[in-house]
Amino acid sequence: MKRDNLPWRAVQPATLYWNESGVPVSDTFDDVYYSQENGLEESRHVFLKGNDLPQRWHNHPRRHFCIGELGFGTGLNFLLTWQAWRELPESRPDLHYFSIEKHPLTHADLASALTAWPALALLAKPLLDAYPGLLAGQHRVLLDDGRVRLDLWWEDAAETLRNLADRQQQLVDAWYLDGFAPSHNATMWTAPLLQAAAALSRPGASLATFTVAGQVRRNLIDAGFQVEKVAGYGRKRECLRGRLEKLQTPAANSHISPWDIPARTSDRPQNVLVVGGGLAGCHAAAALARRGVAVTLLEQGALATAGSGNDQGILYTRLSRKHSALVDFALQSFQFASTFYREMLQAGTLIAHLEGDLCGSFQQSDNATDMATLGEALVGLEELAQVLDASRASDILGINQPSAGYWYPRSGWLRPGAVCRNLVTSSNIHVMEHCGEVTLCADGEQWQAVAGGHILAQATCAIAATGTGAKAMSQLQWLPLQTIRGQITRLPATHTFNGLRTALCHDGYIAPARQGKHSIGATFDISGNDPTPCVGDHRENLARLADAIPVWREALESLDPATLEGRVGFRCASPDYLPVVGPAPDVSRFLDDFAPLRKNARKVVATQGSFLPGLYVSTAHGSRGLTSTPIAAELLASMICSEPLPFSRALCRALAPARFIIRDLACNRM
Ligand SMILES: Cc1cc2nc3c(=O)[nH]c(=O)nc-3n(C[C@H](O)[C@H](O)[C@H](O)COP(=O)(O)OP(=O)(O)OC[C@H]3O[C@@H](n4cnc5c(N)ncnc54)[C@H](O)[C@@H]3O)c2cc1C
Ligand SMILES: C[S@@+](CC[C@H](N)C(=O)[O-])C[C@H]1O[C@@H](n2cnc3c(N)ncnc32)[C@H](O)[C@@H]1O
Repeated sequence: MKRDNLPWRAVQPATLYWNESGVPVSDTFDDVYYSQENGLEESRHVFLKGNDLPQRWHNHPRRHFCIGELGFGTGLNFLLTWQAWRELPESRPDLHYFSIEKHPLTHADLASALTAWPALALLAKPLLDAYPGLLAGQHRVLLDDGRVRLDLWWEDAAETLRNLADRQQQLVDAWYLDGFAPSHNATMWTAPLLQAAAALSRPGASLATFTVAGQVRRNLIDAGFQVEKVAGYGRKRECLRGRLEKLQTPAANSHISPWDIPARTSDRPQNVLVVGGGLAGCHAAAALARRGVAVTLLEQGALATAGSGNDQGILYTRLSRKHSALVDFALQSFQFASTFYREMLQAGTLIAHLEGDLCGSFQQSDNATDMATLGEALVGLEELAQVLDASRASDILGINQPSAGYWYPRSGWLRPGAVCRNLVTSSNIHVMEHCGEVTLCADGEQWQAVAGGHILAQATCAIAATGTGAKAMSQLQWLPLQTIRGQITRLPATHTFNGLRTALCHDGYIAPARQGKHSIGATFDISGNDPTPCVGDHRENLARLADAIPVWREALESLDPATLEGRVGFRCASPDYLPVVGPAPDVSRFLDDFAPLRKNARKVVATQGSFLPGLYVSTAHGSRGLTSTPIAAELLASMICSEPLPFSRALCRALAPARFIIRDLACNRM
């Protein structure tokens, strides 16, 4: 859904009540979420059996099996499917479950609804733990070590399917058509919607639904499905199943130039090279390894010693009164990252308090108008963020501070180096440190990683996750990247400071103490290139902290900055502050193909993008790499493995490296 510039707010939740049989009923659509009699068995019969599941999983020819659902509702269908998947032997394909829902249940309603199914309680808990609540947009949930990917898109089904079909990828193996009854909700069964579903289907895709309404059958047949009525469950006479007979090609969206759609697609690779061992590279390697891809990770020095080398980093996000790609990305990536790191901490993969602590973070603000507006917009999203006055914030922080602001309960701090090292422990990842500067050279269909005149590794696919080093790579020199020097200061955790219980962000930040030191900082210097810490920057960090927490001023001013430890790092940022994630374009082909934009920026050039085969980028994570790199890795891994992507097409275009070429052409700068 196009949200840019609309007021930022939560999605409209489902309004429902429980009828006398304890079944949830939608107020808006006046229909039940599942069957009155035996919802569990009926859903199993209609949707799983209707799609020949789990039988089809036994000999599935691909690494993953994708189910598309219209109407996530209470998640019953998903839990039943996940349960059936779990009961299969290990050789099963990964489960990719993609569900579109316009009015998600609140967390509380979902929890109540799922208490009806004790047999699913074991699975309901992790679903509830990772449920994104009412945050608008697209959410990826990883379950069972990432073998199950649940994509929850809080969007309108018709619009979303149309946009997805425009990407011209056939992704879905089986459909669960579960909008309310067509007589109550005709919008979920229209001919264009079902045509878009057909266009997204793989050859031979199946579908199942509870309705046998004549108009639905006709629309499905027109869309290319062959359908049949089969016996319903219990007293229900019939339900419907079908199979795609004729592959559909969607009518291309004539409103935008399809530069983001690759003119050539490649097969899922066996091996991938990842160059760069910071947060971006390590997350990318882990995301591929979760999918069974063998990864060689090549780092010029040691892992996590460049941008990702700080002691402590804050898990940031940002709010705004208006939607934009920047804010939607900041929030959706934060939702994913905070769940991801929480699981690492809960599993003991990261050692709590030593390697991270999701103790929450507070962002001071002096903008009362924004806080008033956002305070209202955040109703129903309290797990994401809350507006607090100074006194309530001070209580939570454990210190006396003067500002109101935003409290993010799921944020906190992490030690990037520990995150990186723990991400690459999979046996699918071969880590090569101290390689020296690696260049990527194309040799036929292969990318060769070359350093010191030697070929260190090769593969058909490579990811450049080289942070500020991207500018030195011949294929990426054209990217408009900026290097920003930053220095943090290690503040000894004396009794004055160590009451701090959560992270505090102002112009800079302070994290709760780790091994007797707080990280404070960081400076932001667009022209500096000195890698050694300087006293002036320590002084600046102390002064900014004193402004933020005046009761500490005296203690901070009594410190001698020359005696303090610190560290310098270099952030890599893009001009629009979004990271650069996606396939590397063939710049000269782009310049030729999209040249008409120079004369008319609004012209729709009906040409697909040409990309350097198999080369991908993840960089420009700016000051928020802890937040942005986990979902960036999922995005790249999904692209590389031909899976549904975790973001809308609009957001993928906003992150794509090629966006800069298109913008420059449109401004006649290239
Ligand atoms: C002072 C400071 C404070 C920060 N605070 C926070 C914070 O609180 N929260 C937060 O989320 N983020 C913070 N950041 C930003 C965060 O650290 C970055 O966004 C993140 O580290 C980016 O990760 P990366 O993997 O893209 O880059 P890097 O960590 O820089 O990794 C790139 C890696 O690629 C390697 N490399 C480069 N070129 C080559 C080559 N040709 N061959 C082989 N290897 C190569 C480099 O050696 C490096 O290890 C801060 C950054 C700084 C500088
Ligand atoms: C019958 S319920 C789905 C039940 C669900 N599959 C389950 O397992 O609980 C139908 C769902 O479709 C959703 N819905 C209705 N219209 C929609 C639309 N236009 N786009 C997306 N979802 C829609 C409703 O909010 C509701 O959650």
